[in-house]
Amino acid sequence: MRQDAHLSSNKMVSILKTIEELNLLKDVDTILDKTLYEARKLAKADAGSIFLKEKETLRFSYVQNDTLFRKDEANVALYADFRLPISARSIVGYAALTGETVVIDDAYRLDDSFPYRFNPAYDRKSGYKTVSVLAIPLGSFSERMVGVMQLINAKDETGKPVPFSQESRDYMPLFANHASLALERGIMNRELILRMMKMAELRDPHETGAHVQRVGAYSAELYQQWALIQGVDRNTIRRTRDVIRLSSMLHDVGKVGISDVILKKPGKLDEDEFRTMRWHTVFGARLFLQNTSSLDEMSYDIALNHHEKWNGAGYPGNIPDIQSDSISMSAPKKGEEISIYARITALADVFDALSSRRSYKEPWTDEKILEVIEQDSGTHFDPSIVEIFFQIFDVIKAIREKYRE
Ligand code: C2E
Ligand code: SIN
Ligand code: SIN
Ligand code: FE
Ligand code: FE
Repeated sequence: MRQDAHLSSNKMVSILKTIEELNLLKDVDTILDKTLYEARKLAKADAGSIFLKEKETLRFSYVQNDTLFRKDEANVALYADFRLPISARSIVGYAALTGETVVIDDAYRLDDSFPYRFNPAYDRKSGYKTVSVLAIPLGSFSERMVGVMQLINAKDETGKPVPFSQESRDYMPLFANHASLALERGIMNRELILRMMKMAELRDPHETGAHVQRVGAYSAELYQQWALIQGVDRNTIRRTRDVIRLSSMLHDVGKVGISDVILKKPGKLDEDEFRTMRWHTVFGARLFLQNTSSLDEMSYDIALNHHEKWNGAGYPGNIPDIQSDSISMSAPKKGEEISIYARITALADVFDALSSRRSYKEPWTDEKILEVIEQDSGTHFDPSIVEIFFQIFDVIKAIREKYRE
């Protein structure tokens, strides 16, 4: 690669601005979304995907496609679950293996002398036609290879697919280097939270990190759909989605304060034990009392309020002094007194609890779960969230598939 890629100063400013924005984001999915969106905009690419390195494979982690998907809509394709080996035989694998950017002008006319082949399976399945490809390794300036970003079909002014420009070939690797730092940080944040939840709740081997990942992902999708309907602007949606995803993963962190005897009890809790168990909401909230960021603030809110019910029959209710050890959990919260984030997490958590095996129960069938959710709409759950849940149920199921135990 040439050292002095001559970038117009406009482009440089826009790249710097994007990198600054990337650094404000915390969760890996939001960073993937923004990275791919901005890279595609800079290179005028119709589609793209990102593979993240996981163990010794590349895991499909994100996709955008202006031709196939409607923008911002909840999308099953995002949760497709497959991996590629890091080998010279695929385009993405080759980029990961060698650290080189792969430039392809026509995927269907690859020279036989290249070690890699284009895999037409995706095109065949989706009806899409891949022409040009730019596959860029993520992570060349740090030690750790994060993954590979693949941009597809650069477009000319008329929208026709053309080869990627020299300019794109020059500056994309530069952009990718910065994006990988943000991605590394996002991955680290996610891993930190998973580790924290392992300490808190996952003393029970049945409740692995997968539960936490699912509740976070359900909540992010439910929020996004709700916010779109409310007409919330896109930047706010993206930022808030980022925060709710992580905060919602932390909803049960207060279980760290509950004894194993209760937490792991194989049978039904008696009244006394359940009274104790209800304290996990307050214990969790206390961890975020010194809130210094929107993440702390929302984590406080969700930990405290995720067992409140729409009709006021939940817990812990209004609490005058959360530091006190003699709290009467009596004055109920109801309806919109409960924040939208807690109302969303409430549904995500119960759906996941019912779908999963617990020390005290077997997983329920979808039929039975949906029946209960429908029944409890307007009593336990905010009916507008239940409605959105049914609208995006295919995405909810794709998430459940992706984060299996
Ligand atoms: P969790 O396992 O994450 O469950 C979250 C919520 O899902 C529960 O909140 C409840 O609203 C719903 N849920 C879970 N399992 C069932 C079920 O079998 N039937 C119905 N109708 N709803 C269910 P909840 O009840 O406030 O419980 C909070 C936490 O207390 C639970 O979190 C779990 O850790 C514990 N817990 C609740 N009941 C029992 C029990 O009978 N035995 C044991 N060992 N733990 C329990
Ligand atoms: C998107 O991520 O699809 C929207 C990007 C933006 O509005 O900047
Ligand atoms: C992940 O890759 O995000 C977590 C892995 C899993 O829970 O399946
Ligand atoms: Fe809980
Ligand atoms: Fe939970």
